[in-house]
Amino acid sequence: MQYDMPVAAERQLEALVDRIETNPGKFVEPEELQSFQEQLNLRPALSTLPESISHEDFIGILKLAMLTESATDSYAYAIHERAMRYDATWLARFTTNVWAPDERTHYAPYRSMFLDLGFSEAELEREIRETREAEYLHTSGDTPIHLTTFGMVQEYLTDNWHGLIASLVRDSAPEAAQIANRIKQRETLHTLWYRDMTALQLEAQPHLLGHISEALVHFQMPGQVLLPDLQDRVPGWLPKMGADFDRMTRDMIRLIHESLGGSVRNSGEMLLAIASEKGMRLGPLDPGLVRTALGRLGGPGFGLVGEAMLLKAGLGHLYTEPLEEAAPTHRRVERVRSVMRNWIADRLEIEVGYESYDTAS
Ligand SMILES: [Fe+2]
Ligand SMILES: [Fe+2]
Repeated sequence: MQYDMPVAAERQLEALVDRIETNPGKFVEPEELQSFQEQLNLRPALSTLPESISHEDFIGILKLAMLTESATDSYAYAIHERAMRYDATWLARFTTNVWAPDERTHYAPYRSMFLDLGFSEAELEREIRETREAEYLHTSGDTPIHLTTFGMVQEYLTDNWHGLIASLVRDSAPEAAQIANRIKQRETLHTLWYRDMTALQLEAQPHLLGHISEALVHFQMPGQVLLPDLQDRVPGWLPKMGADFDRMTRDMIRLIHESLGGSVRNSGEMLLAIASEKGMRLGPLDPGLVRTALGRLGGPGFGLVGEAMLLKAGLGHLYTEPLEEAAPTHRRVERVRSVMRNWIADRLEIEVGYESYDTAS
């Protein structure tokens, strides 16, 4: 796959990783795990689950968190090896020095929760070992920008998962909620780091937009590869856990928009690229044709599509400029744009959730 970075951009990426290495925030440390383990009492959570969540669901939800987190080194290997293939020393270094050591403790609190619930240690060790030994096949593309795009989405969804677990046990097992939220905070940081890495690469090489859309279209959660039986149940579990799909869609669109440098033009082109790849339609129109047509116009039309997408997702504030300050011609143009934007927005159906990612292949 085509990928290369100008030296200046490589320096910026190395500098970003330098800053992360200097200030990675507070990892979930062994002492914190120790005191958590001593205070933990998860049993009350079992009797206060929402009616729609059975004990077996609850166990599966926690298992998915524990086991996918336990395979950190499989993902680290997959990312590091690909980063080196493209001489992206910044990404290799980030993965080995920051990301993997940070991730390595995330499974541990869940293991403690299972021990607290009376699960056998030997059994847990066996499941963890099997997950770690399973082959992780990475399917979302190989270049550094594919990897950072994948990383951003994966971290966001994982962040969301730990957050949903925290809210499930918030009142019944506050210590468990607290540690799940601590892990969630780490995943939030990872999401933003990958977002910034993606933005820097795209800024230097705008033609890499196609790699980003490819990574998004072919995105799969690692759990889909390592633990398909559990991962397949996620779309069913999410609504029962109180997942807010509108918020998830909005968050994801905002993240992608930011990873594209906050450019509505890039976001519009991305939306059309994804839509045509996935065989979706824009009202009566084939998005592939729309993309070609807008591309011939030199691209400003993409901006309108991008704005419509943000508008539709409730993120209109990300592009709106205060009209009072604008010149009269600009105001007239803006009125026409607004009619067009609304017309497009009315025809967009976007839901970026687990569901759509799970069916991506
Ligand atoms: Fe994690
Ligand atoms: Fe993470």
